[in-house]
Amino acid sequence: MQAVILVGGEGTRLRPLTSTIPKPVVALVDRPMMAYMLEWLHGHGVDDVIMSCGFKATKVREVLGDGSQYGIRLRFLEEPDPRGTAGALKFAEELLDERFLMLNGDVLTDLDLTAQIAQHERTGATGTLALVPVPDPSSYGLVRLREDHAVDEFLEKPSPDAVLDTNLISAGAYVLERSVLDLIEPDKKVSIEHEVWPVLVDRGLYGFADDSAYWIDVGTPERYLQATFDILEGNVRTGVAGKLGESYVSVDPSTQLAGRAIPPAIVGAGCTIAEGAHVGSLAVLAGGVGVGSGSVVERAVVLQGARIGDDCVLRDCIVGPGASIGDRSRVTGGAMLGEGVMIGADNVIAHGARLFPGLEVPDGGLVF
Ligand code: GDD
Ligand code: MG
Repeated sequence: MQAVILVGGEGTRLRPLTSTIPKPVVALVDRPMMAYMLEWLHGHGVDDVIMSCGFKATKVREVLGDGSQYGIRLRFLEEPDPRGTAGALKFAEELLDERFLMLNGDVLTDLDLTAQIAQHERTGATGTLALVPVPDPSSYGLVRLREDHAVDEFLEKPSPDAVLDTNLISAGAYVLERSVLDLIEPDKKVSIEHEVWPVLVDRGLYGFADDSAYWIDVGTPERYLQATFDILEGNVRTGVAGKLGESYVSVDPSTQLAGRAIPPAIVGAGCTIAEGAHVGSLAVLAGGVGVGSGSVVERAVVLQGARIGDDCVLRDCIVGPGASIGDRSRVTGGAMLGEGVMIGADNVIAHGARLFPGLEVPDGGLVF
């Protein structure tokens, strides 16, 4: 089975994490975000993937390679200019099979693609959208379904005064027949949500509702942390579960652990966790991270090579690769430090503050 994954968005809402790293390869727990999607697709029989890239495609290609580590043939396509969700698909036309999957590249899900494909075949659909229920559907593509699973109405991000009588949204996973391409004008920016789905209503557009699936759009820092915690807790079926085992703690053998790791937690290779430091619960340390004595890292993600001084508190925050935090500093409340940001001692950073790459804060320079 073939799949096209759209990864052309800039990931602006995840800055400063995505200021230096394209979103598909930002680390999520212990692997690039895109690895979860490739592993999930592979588990449902996908062996051929076309990555529809825009922004920083080279870096994505470097990290994911030819896909062989995922058992998938991986090809990369770059549009000359952003073509929108349908325009990007049209741009891939020459490479596409008679039937294929199309995925939004920014979701983490374990929904049952095999059952979706089976329903697509049973109904003889032209397109089948995966649907999941969410508590607040207004910022997604809303779908009203008929008894026979045909789509009755598709409404992309309805205006605030619209009447919402469904909580089913398009999960960004579609089974499509090649004939869908005939609806898309070439060499133009075209939106599949605004210009294709509405046209396909009553002409073969179906919905496959999976209400037992895990699903999240990893588009904001809050949801990045939520996705991290859900992976650690095993709320979503991923390859990380095997690594965490029954104890829900994984500490790489090359790490020096004098302090404690409290489950669920994952600590990568070559870290140093000093005496009296606590890592967890719900903490991720990527490789080469140093945590000083007496420091607490809880409900937090600390990426590759970051250094944390003594007696610090990191809670509900994301620390970018190579950042450093001086002694007795507190980083909490959804704060996010970009790659290489340097914070001196005795700083307080909270309330969703975002510190961009290149920033240096002197000792006691910031109480936010
Ligand atoms: N190649 C390419 N070119 N990819 C693009 C482009 C483009 O011009 N524009 C967006 N993408 C990619 C994004 O990287 C993302 O993976 C996917 O297409 C969807 O775009 P988003 O910008 O993330 O859209 P959204 O989250 O607001 O809404 C979409 O996803 C929802 C589910 O998360 C819609 O498909 C909604 O209907 C859906 O409910
Ligand atoms: Mg999105």
